[in-house]
Amino acid sequence: MTAISPHGGTLVNRLVTGEERERLLEEAKKLKSVRINAWTISDLDLIGVGAFSPLTGFLNEDDYHSVVKHMRLADGTVWSIPITLSVSEQEAAELSLEERIALVGEQDGIVYGLLEVGRIYKVDQQYEARQVFKTTDSEHPGVKKLLERSPIYIGGSVQVLHRPRPDRFTEFYYDPEQTRRIFADRGWNTVVGFQTRNPVHRAHEYIQKSAMEIVDGLFLNPLVGETKSDDVPADVRMQSYLVLLDNYYPEGRTFLGVFPAAMRYAGPREAIFHAMVRKNYGCTHFIVGRDHAGVGDYYGTYEAQEIFSNFTAEELGITPLFFEHSFFCTKCGNMASSKTCPHPAEDHLTLSGTKVRGLLREGICPPPEFTRPEVARVLIEGMSHQVVI
Ligand code: ADX
Repeated sequence: MTAISPHGGTLVNRLVTGEERERLLEEAKKLKSVRINAWTISDLDLIGVGAFSPLTGFLNEDDYHSVVKHMRLADGTVWSIPITLSVSEQEAAELSLEERIALVGEQDGIVYGLLEVGRIYKVDQQYEARQVFKTTDSEHPGVKKLLERSPIYIGGSVQVLHRPRPDRFTEFYYDPEQTRRIFADRGWNTVVGFQTRNPVHRAHEYIQKSAMEIVDGLFLNPLVGETKSDDVPADVRMQSYLVLLDNYYPEGRTFLGVFPAAMRYAGPREAIFHAMVRKNYGCTHFIVGRDHAGVGDYYGTYEAQEIFSNFTAEELGITPLFFEHSFFCTKCGNMASSKTCPHPAEDHLTLSGTKVRGLLREGICPPPEFTRPEVARVLIEGMSHQVVI
């Protein structure tokens, strides 16, 4: 069986290496530049390696409006999250169309890439927030980030000259081209992708393993880019995934690799985006559980599943696997959901995120029916090194 096609048909590659890279770095010294932050550096890199295929750059005006309004690029391809480059008014005033500019890290002055300016346009961020996040509330972490940016965007295709280097867990960074090869080498015809920004608790494990019963392999693909400050830091989570896999998952059936993107907390729209990206990494299936990529009470429990009905199976390419809210039932004596358990809520063990964080901070393991003890110990240890605000 041939591997699943990337979104849009071709895996984009905008990485420049060797002599061409040297030449462009030299050229970059003479170019105008715009400063980009860690979030934009990660978007640039993900475009470069094809994780955001079919995007070859930051969205131009027509694609932007189409994505914001219809969840599609201007040519009709499904795309639900605008990937944009915001510049200050002053930076924009100095740029002209079709000129090549350098994208320079605001912290380190490194030239991460070049962009050919296709469009310079001003957007209505309130409208973007309403469409993408379903709220303009600046308490929403995604909306907050959006409103902090200048409303002037530049679009155009990019070339990547420098890859951001992780401090730790370098060995878990794979580009889509690599994961595709790894899945093929393992003989996996079907691979289910799992997005997470949290430690893997028993409910996560349950839905992963339910999916593993019907596919060849699991791609555990935690998001390790920017998250909100009260989410568990990525390095602590990575340790927790490693002990979990070591103790509870068959080695030949699981693969751990990170997704170095920023978390948008856009709920339903982000679920579509997450699925398209995992298709680019070579997944044939993608798990969407309760309130996927949600935050607070902004989205309905199953909205991130319902949104998939806007698209045909052919348009999506990847098959979403939907799971209901899962829990440990003390009467059943196992993990279940309302699809498999007849008992009332009093028999179900449910703990809020706040409650779990509180326990861990006090050095208390949550019940093993909620979190594996090996995972809890890593989290307790990890949190004891954190400054608790
Ligand atoms: S997310 O922001 O990355 O979606 P999280 O890491 O909590 O948050 O969730 C990872 C995946 O597991 C998502 O698909 C989410 O819907 C699903 N999920 C989380 N908790 C549960 C649960 N108790 N029951 C069913 N699905 C869940």
